[in-house]
Amino acid sequence: MELIQRPRRLRGSETLRKMVRETRMDKSSLIYPLFVKEGTGIEEEIPSMEGQYRYSVDRLPYELERLTKAGVSSVMLFGIPDHKDETGSGAYAQDGIVQRALMEAKKQFPDMYYITDVCMCEYTSHGHCGVLCGHDVDNDATLELLAKTALSHVEAGADMVAPSDMMDGRVRAIRECLDGHGHKNTPIMSYAVKYASAFYGPFRDAAGSAPSFGDRKSYQMDFHNRREGMKEALTDIEEGADIIMVKPAMSYLDIISEVTKATNVPVAAYSVSGEYAMVKAAAKMGWIEEDRIICEMAVGTYRAGAQIYITYFAKELAKFMDEGRIG
Ligand code: PBG
Repeated sequence: MELIQRPRRLRGSETLRKMVRETRMDKSSLIYPLFVKEGTGIEEEIPSMEGQYRYSVDRLPYELERLTKAGVSSVMLFGIPDHKDETGSGAYAQDGIVQRALMEAKKQFPDMYYITDVCMCEYTSHGHCGVLCGHDVDNDATLELLAKTALSHVEAGADMVAPSDMMDGRVRAIRECLDGHGHKNTPIMSYAVKYASAFYGPFRDAAGSAPSFGDRKSYQMDFHNRREGMKEALTDIEEGADIIMVKPAMSYLDIISEVTKATNVPVAAYSVSGEYAMVKAAAKMGWIEEDRIICEMAVGTYRAGAQIYITYFAKELAKFMDEGRIG
């Protein structure tokens, strides 16, 4: 057989396969989501997310230590307050759960990079991502509270804020507020292209943030839409977003790819709770090889164009990268 092209030539050994890899990644691009709750001495496993925990502020350092050892240098904090009300006042309270966690964590692990999720849903009694007007979320009234929340996070030590509420104009409102208070250099990572997704189910269990009525379809995106994702990304960049996030990741690789092409900012992808839970459940049944699935999901996301990967598997991936299994 006189074949000129034999693609298999470049697959002959592990060394050669690694030499010609098209997708390279690094531990510095991993972000680990962390849940902090009120109380002391708490490290409780989240039932729907085996291997993930809610920590009280005093226990958080133990996890930060494990992350540091694994080589994961960025976290994204989510707060679980004891008290909820109509306007989600716990989100922007100076002594709120995220604010206190930040102050404590920064003291003990100043080199960790702290990103905070800016949203109201964990703090409102109705579980929606903003304040209500009747049964609808009032977009413009919510902006001020989001800006206050972001500012209080930054004042407590957040290095970057990540609004996840999907209100129109929130990036601009947050940017103006931060700038007005002397925080011109604090970046915003916008959950710009965030779909209304069933993949968030386990998270809402973890954070107790499921809406008490209705759903989030009037603010999160319809998953049939691709071009609208570009509109969201470009609008947020115009408003001052430094990094654009696509969420979820696994079923949205086309969106990641397209946003990467349509913009010139770093693109982050969030592999969400439902993606994590499916892997864990199937692995527990013995139906899939967990490690290999984690690697494929991660590499697929980077290959689609993501530069940053937010994942509950951050520690495992850091290890796989150290071992040279991926990266
Ligand atoms: C808050 C928020 C959610 C997630 C991140 N920030 C839940 C939601 O929008 O309902 C989901 C994260 C995950 O599922 O891992 N708005």
